[in-house]
Amino acid sequence: MTAQLNPRGDVAVLVPAAGAGVRLGPGRPKALRLLAGEPLLVHAVRRLAAAASVHTIVVAAPPAEVEAVRALLAPVAPVTVLPGGAERQASVAAALAAVPAGPEIVLVHDAARALTPPELVESVAAAVRAGHDAVIPVLPVVDTVKEVGAGEVVLGTVDRTALRVVQTPQGFRRAVLTAAHSAAAGDPLTDDAGLVEKQGVPVVCVPGSEYALKVTRPFDLALAEHLLAAGA
Ligand code: C5P
Repeated sequence: MTAQLNPRGDVAVLVPAAGAGVRLGPGRPKALRLLAGEPLLVHAVRRLAAAASVHTIVVAAPPAEVEAVRALLAPVAPVTVLPGGAERQASVAAALAAVPAGPEIVLVHDAARALTPPELVESVAAAVRAGHDAVIPVLPVVDTVKEVGAGEVVLGTVDRTALRVVQTPQGFRRAVLTAAHSAAAGDPLTDDAGLVEKQGVPVVCVPGSEYALKVTRPFDLALAEHLLAAGA
């Protein structure tokens, strides 16, 4: 059944899904790889659409797959699909430019985090609504972390208590994300909070979710299949 988005919601979600996904091995663009018979992107959009505050979803698709992605998502939720760019940042910028007037909170969410619970979407949005300009979901680092140099020789042990692993959705006050993207043209970073940090805007952490794992390698796909089978 097609989900309805909330016409009174204050959140737009941008989904950069235009990457090739080479680390998963050869095959289709990553967002279209199958997880339990459905593309990662379909799983991700279904969960975004289930979050109560979401008003708009904009997907940046691989340029050659825009029509296919539109057809794929039409039965899932009413989403805007447009061609992504050569870099993730260009895909996000294109999606951001397509957000209609209205939502003042913008979340950026990787399609590869296919099992992200709607509750995490809402908790990031709630922290922005509460007054933070930029919010990221994080997990603690559980392993010991070493810094290594040439020849894989250990230089030192990093204090992991000050480290966090960063997930998506990352949330922003709309004007803050727009300003960061216009200031950062041609200065690619792997996440949007990094752009905002460069503008001197404080970025606040909220607890992430193990279910928001990023499906990057074949092992992650197998793990995600197990989680889904167990009810995720
Ligand atoms: O490559 P990586 O896993 O870091 O990509 C993160 C997200 O950015 C993925 O959802 C991918 O599809 C997206 N992306 C994009 N446009 C690109 C490159 C990556 O939308 N040119």
